[in-house]
Parts: sequence; C-alpha cells; structure tokens
Amino acid sequence: MFLYTPAGFSDVSSCGAFYDVRTTVFAGEDMMVLEYSDPEAQRRLFDRATRLLPPRGKVLDLGCGLGHLLNYLEEKSPAYEDYWGIDVSERMIAEARRRRGDRFEQRDILTAPFEEGRFDTGYILSVLGYPIGEDPMAMMLAILEKALSACRVGIVFSHLAAGRKEGLRFTTVPEDLASRCEKAFGARVEIDDDGADHTYLVALRHRGL
Ligand SMILES: C[S@@+](CC[C@H](N)C(=O)[O-])C[C@H]1O[C@@H](n2cnc3c(N)ncnc32)[C@H](O)[C@@H]1O
Repeated sequence: MFLYTPAGFSDVSSCGAFYDVRTTVFAGEDMMVLEYSDPEAQRRLFDRATRLLPPRGKVLDLGCGLGHLLNYLEEKSPAYEDYWGIDVSERMIAEARRRRGDRFEQRDILTAPFEEGRFDTGYILSVLGYPIGEDPMAMMLAILEKALSACRVGIVFSHLAAGRKEGLRFTTVPEDLASRCEKAFGARVEIDDDGADHTYLVALRHRGL
C-alpha cells in the first residue's frame, strides 16, 4: 500500500531522498506521501502530542513533511507564537513552502544544529520510525539531543513499540527508551502509551521547567 518499505537507510540524506520520491509518486495524496493510514490517524497523533507537551512560544517541527502540524496549530492552539518546520527532504520543503509560505527550511539538525534555546517547544512526529546508520539508537539519541538543546522547555517525539505490529523496522520498549533518555539527557521523561497502539509518545522536558 505504501509503495515500498525500506529496511533502513545508510544515512539521513538517503532518508530525505526516499521522501523526495514519495512526494513525486503520490503527489496530491498527502496521507500516502506521509505514510499515515488516514487523516484521523495523523490528527490523533497531533492531539496526543500537544496534550503531552502543550505548544508554547516558538515551535520547532522537526521532520515537518508537508507542514500539516502548522495547519493543526493554527486551528487548535492560540498559545503558540511562531512556527518553524525543518525537513531533510528537499521536495517536502518545496511543497510545504508552496502551500504555507516561508516558515520551512531544508535542514539536517545533526550537521546544522540550532543555537541553544532558540525555540520553546519541539515536535518530532512520525519521523524516527526507520533505522538510520549502523547504530540506529545512537542516531536517534543524537537527533533528540540536538532537538532538546534547541528547545527551551522540551520536546515530544513518537516512536514504535516492539511486538505490537508486524513489519515495523525500528522498535523499542517504551520504558527502555524512557530510561535511556533520562540517562542520556537528564531530562524529565513522560510517556503516552496505551499499551495497544504500536505508536507511543515520549516528552522530554528540561528539569526545573
Ligand atoms: C512520515 S513523514 C511525517 C511528517 C510530519 N511530521 C507529519 O506528521 O505529518 C516523516 C518526515 O520526516 C522527515 N525526516 C526523517 N528523518 C529526518 C531527520 N533526521 N531530520 C529531518 N527530517 C527528517 C522525512 O523527510 C519526512 O518528510
């Protein structure tokens, strides 16, 4: 249904190239481009993420895709002040800019990190689902570290739970990932997991906030 599910990517830019192709092949079919089963699934994820970490101030959307989170925030969240979307896929960014203007940038946070505290809250939704590089966990933690440093309050990200759905390429046990994040970043960790859905969310907040 979703074209082809790769086993993983050798690096972040190959992941961007994969999504470049999807924007071309599925032009006009946003949910196919973004690998959601339907718009309600995407909205439910946005609802859960913004409940776990309410948007505040300047929002970073890492792996923004076509920029749907911006539409959602404009509709639902008067509390946010500003939005910046980044993505490694050139074509995703071109399409997001065509639709929504210049609040989107092609950028890899690993090679071009933001200065500390440039944003307030960060969202990384349906982004960290493929294994990248020889050590996918280290890669994911490196991305989270840069995102957390860029966001003054904290970030929320989604990941895939082990043992709940066939065919997922990169899964973790929620509690294991939470304790890794706590150890790696010294952050306050909160999980949203209903124990059945294969997607769960993790919020990382700087201590003292
Ligand atoms: C499944 S789409 C989800 C898009 C959006 N977050 C949403 O929920 O509608 C995943 C997006 O993440 C981007 N992506 C994957 N790894 C990334 C990384 N390390 N940095 C920035 N973007 C990344 C892909 O290019 C793709 O556009």
